[in-house]
Amino acid sequence: MNKVIILVGSPRSKGNTARIVERVDEILQKRDIESEIVKLNKLDIRPCRNCGACEEDGQCVQKDDMRELWEKVESSDGLVLASPTYYSGVTAQMKIFIDRTGRAKVIWDYKRNLPSGSRFSEGKRAMVIGVCGQPGERWLKCSIMQMKSLLSDLQIPLYSIIKGDGADVGGGLFKGRPEVMIDIDEATEGFVEGDEEITLSYKENWNLGRDSPQESGES
Ligand SMILES: Cc1cc2nc3c(=O)[nH]c(=O)nc-3n(C[C@H](O)[C@H](O)[C@H](O)COP(=O)(O)O)c2cc1C
Repeated sequence: MNKVIILVGSPRSKGNTARIVERVDEILQKRDIESEIVKLNKLDIRPCRNCGACEEDGQCVQKDDMRELWEKVESSDGLVLASPTYYSGVTAQMKIFIDRTGRAKVIWDYKRNLPSGSRFSEGKRAMVIGVCGQPGERWLKCSIMQMKSLLSDLQIPLYSIIKGDGADVGGGLFKGRPEVMIDIDEATEGFVEGDEEITLSYKENWNLGRDSPQESGES
């Protein structure tokens, strides 16, 4: 891996997600991997309107920072999606990225049953980071599923997941919990080395335009 883009869904610049991401960034730098942290909250990105325009030509009609962001993702070979849980799911900022990307980068290919098109080029790999205030992984389940769901549609293999639960209890995520740092380090190594892929649903259920119309049951 040469270049990683890290998309942060938390609006807090010194929060738990930011601290995890800083550590991930540190490890990547030590491995001579270029990385860029993008705080979605700082961008002008608007929600998907479901106008259907991207179904025609694979292009989103909205002219905002999402265009430049897609270019950054395209020019990276590693993608990290990091978000806290807000009411069981990802933050609004991350949800905008998921919805807009999922529509503009997948739906056109899917509808046209074409092998490529608007989707990102192949050869990327991903890591997902979830943080929640309450103790217990159940508060991370939905937000991690949302991020995995996008990766699945984009057919970007997932190699690592960092789960930071219980961030709002006790001393927080980093106080008296040395295992958190160890988890971050190990997960980042797994992402960099990329030797154990985590199965995404497309491997089992999806076939987004990779086969002929006959094989996929479409005429
Ligand atoms: C609007 C809102 C909704 C939240 N909903 C949940 C939730 O459903 N479950 C949970 O465990 N924590 C919830 N939290 C707590 C955050 O996940 C937690 O504070 C997290 O550490 C915030 O991430 P950050 O420090 O990176 O900003 C919520 C926080 C906010 C602001």
